[in-house]
Amino acid sequence: TDLAHIRNFSIIAHIDHGKSTLADRLIQFTGGLTEREMSAQVLDNMDIEKERGITIKAQTVRLNYTAKNGETYELNLMDTPGHVDFAYEVSRSLAACEGALLVVDAAQGVEAQTLANVYQSIEHDHEIVPVINKIDLPAAEPEKVKAEIEDIIGIDASDAVLASAKSGIGIEEILEQIVAKIPGPTGDRDAPLKAMLVDSWYDPYLGVVILVRVIDGVIKKGLNVKFMQGGTDHLIDRVGCFSPKRTELAELGPGEIGFITAQIKEVEQAKVGDTITTVKGGATQALPGYKEVQPVVFCGLFPVDANDFEKLRESIGKLRLNDASFSFEMESSAALGFGFRCGFLGLLHLEIIQERLSREYDLDLITTAPSVVYRIDLRASRTDDAAEIYLHNPADYPDPSRIETIEEPWIKATIYTPDEYLGSILKLCQDRRGIQRDLTYVGGRAQVTYELPLNEVVFDFYDRLKSISRGYASFDYEQIGLREGDLVKMSILVNNEPVDALSMIVHRGVAEERGRGMCERLKDLIPRHLFKIPIQAAIGGKVIARETISAMRKDVTAKCYGGDITRKKKLLEKQKKGKARMREYGNVSIPQEAFIAALRMG
Ligand code: GTP
Repeated sequence: TDLAHIRNFSIIAHIDHGKSTLADRLIQFTGGLTEREMSAQVLDNMDIEKERGITIKAQTVRLNYTAKNGETYELNLMDTPGHVDFAYEVSRSLAACEGALLVVDAAQGVEAQTLANVYQSIEHDHEIVPVINKIDLPAAEPEKVKAEIEDIIGIDASDAVLASAKSGIGIEEILEQIVAKIPGPTGDRDAPLKAMLVDSWYDPYLGVVILVRVIDGVIKKGLNVKFMQGGTDHLIDRVGCFSPKRTELAELGPGEIGFITAQIKEVEQAKVGDTITTVKGGATQALPGYKEVQPVVFCGLFPVDANDFEKLRESIGKLRLNDASFSFEMESSAALGFGFRCGFLGLLHLEIIQERLSREYDLDLITTAPSVVYRIDLRASRTDDAAEIYLHNPADYPDPSRIETIEEPWIKATIYTPDEYLGSILKLCQDRRGIQRDLTYVGGRAQVTYELPLNEVVFDFYDRLKSISRGYASFDYEQIGLREGDLVKMSILVNNEPVDALSMIVHRGVAEERGRGMCERLKDLIPRHLFKIPIQAAIGGKVIARETISAMRKDVTAKCYGGDITRKKKLLEKQKKGKARMREYGNVSIPQEAFIAALRMG
């Protein structure tokens, strides 16, 4: 297709504002799908995505649209992930487009997540087409939302399309505006091949499928190509697009978006943001913006039943086939046995992997406290030289006397909320060691910017934020580097034995409070035993908080007064079942739920 008849765009929308529904409508309108095929949403194709309604992997479809001017256009619609954990993937998808549809819910208005993506889109010089969706809702206030788009984002929204993806209103108008407002791509067919690797995923039949945006040159079957960052060569064996069904094509020319396969077995070899060129006579300079993604949140995953270890290893391996951004290595814990230390892009990413392991692979898991990565400068000792280490497991915390400095990652968080919740939100940020940077009001809402230590956010910050704002506050963050902090390792001892799964790195200033909270929760979560159980929080050898679980008689059937035998049996049965999901620490059984519950802050 010639450049003037191509339009590449993404859809930017806050979660639930209707991105997937709208994408499906556009596909349906341009004839890609029948009404029946529409019944299942096409773009979000992973189960968990469907259930939670979040887009995890970017997908792209090609639509052929004959506009009112009689010309037929190739529209490449790119679905982008809607969560901060996947910000880098979003940035590469945006870099592959010339424009964006900004979808805003007519009843909800502009949200923080939308803002972050819009600003990125503007940075990529995108032409932005505003769409006000859900105008069918009685609570829709399109004029107010228009004004918000203009005030907050600073783009002209006077001719924003008023649409309802649900009822099919405004769909043609959206397509017309895409053609009229978004410029076609530029590129040179005769220049050496330069294509950006936008995304990759594993397909059991095709191997690794790679989504590309061709910048210059032509990509076709039989071509020997080089991945400039990865440093590997591959022979292309398929070229095509999704319309939305997989369709093979002879070639992809400049400005086009489509897929290639090249008998690649692991997604790790196809890194998002890489530049693809030809082995012979190829480009000499890679495209800008490439970044190696690094996990930022780590935790241990252990099977509840030690016999499941092999199954866990296999399942993690399979998941990793499709997700190069999560990392794992074997870990052994005195109390939890064998498991894996895993790294994730963020908490949502962690939850997704954890959920897939339990759901798709039917594994019962214990997750240890999530931790961020700390940089530690160690001074020389009699036996060791000075060194710099990156700590991502509290279990590897070094001898405190050798620690010169510890640095922790910080983030800049932007929170957008109706102002009635502002007070509680400021308190939450303050409690989490936040430093307020900015506070502005826009029409009954507040936008507040805080700098926060990442380790205060990884536990349950997001959940707390949602619950204190009854779901109305939105949150977005970016990392802003490492800062020195007075950080210590807090251990939790049950019956005088440290429970490694519960130890964590905390700031000294909040250690006592966190320790006390943890002991109090454990006291309620651990069942009574025949003996008294001390629960302590300690830093080094110093106990900073303590609770005691008093002793009880073991025979749970005693309270049946020897009477009803079936009830007695039931109780014994219940006790047995409970045992299967317990862990033993210093002769104390801790139910699995206790770990998870204990890790939530009060
Ligand atoms: P994420 O994938 O989580 O980002 O969500 P999304 O933006 O893709 O939203 P999705 O398309 O899944 O729609 C969210 C909800 O809004 C669904 O329940 C839709 O049925 C509903 N919805 C979407 N468009 C409209 C609309 O025009 N009117 C009404 N009333 N509901 C809509």
